[in-house]
Amino acid sequence: MSSDFLRNLRKIKTQSNMTNRTFTPFPILVTERLTLRALSMDDEQGIFALRSDSEINKYLDRTPCETMEEAGDFIQKISGFVKKNESVYWAITLTEHQSFVGTICLFGFTDTERKCEIGYELLTDFQGRGIMSEAIHEVIEYAFKTLKIRAIEAFCHKDNKASIRLLETFEFVSSSESGNDDPDYWEFTLVER
Ligand SMILES: CC(C)(COP(=O)(O)OP(=O)(O)OC[C@H]1O[C@@H](n2cnc3c(N)ncnc32)[C@H](O)[C@@H]1OP(=O)(O)O)[C@@H](O)C(=O)NCCC(=O)NCCS
Repeated sequence: MSSDFLRNLRKIKTQSNMTNRTFTPFPILVTERLTLRALSMDDEQGIFALRSDSEINKYLDRTPCETMEEAGDFIQKISGFVKKNESVYWAITLTEHQSFVGTICLFGFTDTERKCEIGYELLTDFQGRGIMSEAIHEVIEYAFKTLKIRAIEAFCHKDNKASIRLLETFEFVSSSESGNDDPDYWEFTLVER
């Protein structure tokens, strides 16, 4: 067998395991009511509101945001990850008013298994209106169809009823074996059909 042949075979095998992961230009997603766009420094206030709210943070394993500066640092950190194609993080806005209402992201990509994780949050005033269902639907489509992801995972606190309901609506399945060290966080997976 020639070395060229072996080299090409190796290349094909690697390519078949890879996802189409480029987030420049940024993938803007549009639904009936929403525009999912890139996060920008103009969202500092919105990010601060989300990450400093004790109700929103209740089931999230993170340090609450205390200052606007921390919110700005967070936006810059996220923009860096997006630039390096390490994660994709959308600001969820109501198209009609262009108002920021929450975020949704895909991160923790593993190319060999074509897996990633999903995370999402909404300002409390905008919860319970089907907004996240609309956003997650579009993001799942994007992950499977454009990124060629095979499985999406979510880690959710066992008491986070709204999030569990949302994941189950989209047919994520909870596995008894949580990949997380904390047994209070359940692992949910959606496999491409
Ligand atoms: C999780 C979250 C995004 C859900 O947002 P939402 O606006 O309630 O989502 P939707 O309106 O699309 O509702 C999704 C489903 O959950 C149900 N639901 C909403 N709040 C609920 C609650 N407190 N208890 C039980 N079910 C609830 C809705 O009825 C809907 O089910 P349906 O389609 O059968 O009617 C929102 O609660 C949130 O931002 N929480 C804080 C951040 C967070 O926990 N993120 C998830 C981390 S894993």
